[in-house]
Amino acid sequence: MNAINDTNEFYDAIAEHYPMFYRDWETQLEREGLGLRTIFRNRGVERILDASCGAGAQTIPLAQLNYKVVAVDPSAGMLRKAQEFATRYGVADKIQFERGDFFSLPTLVQAPFDAVITRGNALPHLILDEEIEHALRNFYDLLRPGGTLVIGMRDFAPFMEDRPRFIPGFVHQFDNGDEFVSFDIWEWHDGSPVIATQNLYIVTGCAGKYETIKRHVMYRPLSTDEVKVVLLETGFEEVSDQPNRWERVLVARKPLGG
Ligand SMILES: C[S@@+](CC[C@H](N)C(=O)[O-])C[C@H]1O[C@@H](n2cnc3c(N)ncnc32)[C@H](O)[C@@H]1O
Repeated sequence: MNAINDTNEFYDAIAEHYPMFYRDWETQLEREGLGLRTIFRNRGVERILDASCGAGAQTIPLAQLNYKVVAVDPSAGMLRKAQEFATRYGVADKIQFERGDFFSLPTLVQAPFDAVITRGNALPHLILDEEIEHALRNFYDLLRPGGTLVIGMRDFAPFMEDRPRFIPGFVHQFDNGDEFVSFDIWEWHDGSPVIATQNLYIVTGCAGKYETIKRHVMYRPLSTDEVKVVLLETGFEEVSDQPNRWERVLVARKPLGG
């Protein structure tokens, strides 16, 4: 199965800028590591699959914390960025990188894992019900009995209500005078399902000379409640939900007898 929403052009184009989508990338890495270590405490987690590793926001701190990480992403640009950070932070030899998407996982990686994570709103890039079910089934099959699944996603429920068009992003000002500014314009397409398009604008430059790039990517604006139902239908149990910055973090367990 191939995802009907090919996100690679978008992520390849923004990969170089990705750390700019955080107030402070280094602080974010520390926070991600701490948050995941807290979730994994007392769950016997050693080997982790990061199924949408992007630039390594979770993979890098997990490797720094000595977890064994297999990191997968379909975007060659994002994977390159993650490998660059892994080298910079001295953890390249602790991570196995693979290029692929949620559907190619069973042929790409060696199960079982103690935990599977997909953070950073990757799951809502899947558009069809059967794609979402397929991805969650793959995560389930790749986990050992008692293993932990962690999904980080925007809860689109309030978005569906308000359908915002303009969403501010980030502003960075560097010592050399360069500036980085980002914002989104969202489009909402009625249908079954409703589809949301994020148009991301990145403005860079200094001293009155600025350049803007615009890239778009599609989402199925899922609510966390919808995902919880599919998790339970897939066989997961103990599904919980907590806030983390702009995401909600869903944690679920594969039953010991699963
Ligand atoms: C916003 S990034 C998040 C990356 C990282 N986990 C983080 O939190 O910074 C979303 C990632 O999902 C990946 N992605 C998109 N569609 C995917 C799919 N079908 N399977 C796996 N990953 C996907 C993209 O390539 C991108 O790197």
